[in-house]
Amino acid sequence: MKNSHKGHHKGNSTEILLNKEIILSELNILPGETILDVGCGDGYMAKEFSKINKSGKIYALDQSKEAIKHLKKETEGTNISPILADITTGTELEESSIDLIYLSTVFHIFSSQKIDDFGKEVERILKPNGRLAMVEIEKRETPIGPPMNMRVSPGEMEKLIKMKPASLVKVGEYFYMQIFENE
Ligand SMILES: C[S@@+](CC[C@H](N)C(=O)[O-])C[C@H]1O[C@@H](n2cnc3c(N)ncnc32)[C@H](O)[C@@H]1O
Repeated sequence: MKNSHKGHHKGNSTEILLNKEIILSELNILPGETILDVGCGDGYMAKEFSKINKSGKIYALDQSKEAIKHLKKETEGTNISPILADITTGTELEESSIDLIYLSTVFHIFSSQKIDDFGKEVERILKPNGRLAMVEIEKRETPIGPPMNMRVSPGEMEKLIKMKPASLVKVGEYFYMQIFENE
């Protein structure tokens, strides 16, 4: 996945690899919901969330200065707020303020310590009935993607996330999305 001439994170984007229609349908976003796209990259999903949820609020968070700087320009005057932060060291988002936290190909990057820190921040900012959706690459040989020892199967994800697994769907040739519910 090379950087394209458009630059700014396009090289890391999963946009052409994932089926947005399936993802959006499975996420079942309700009008007015507050959504957080963690590790948003070029922000293509934050923009999709914004399109279908004009009365809501979308936070697009990434630790990459370049990605956030670019997204700030692109999303001026919309309901998307780009945030420069590392989700594992905490954010300035309010407690129990988010309906849906979405991560696409970000979770496998976290070390075990970071998974714990991520879990704590999710627990702090998610609403009591909120949900966490994670898209990850399948744990099998694929022509693209990270080394096998970084990949996480749905079963492994269930052990690492202290929430109730609610659904599991295939969202691309090599990708799945698992949704967890806060109780
Ligand atoms: C493989 S890219 C995926 C980008 C986008 N979600 C997509 O599906 O196209 C991973 C992104 O996660 C961001 N990231 C990694 N660790 C992070 C962390 N701890 N906090 C915030 N962003 C992080 C990276 O900067 C990068 O933009």
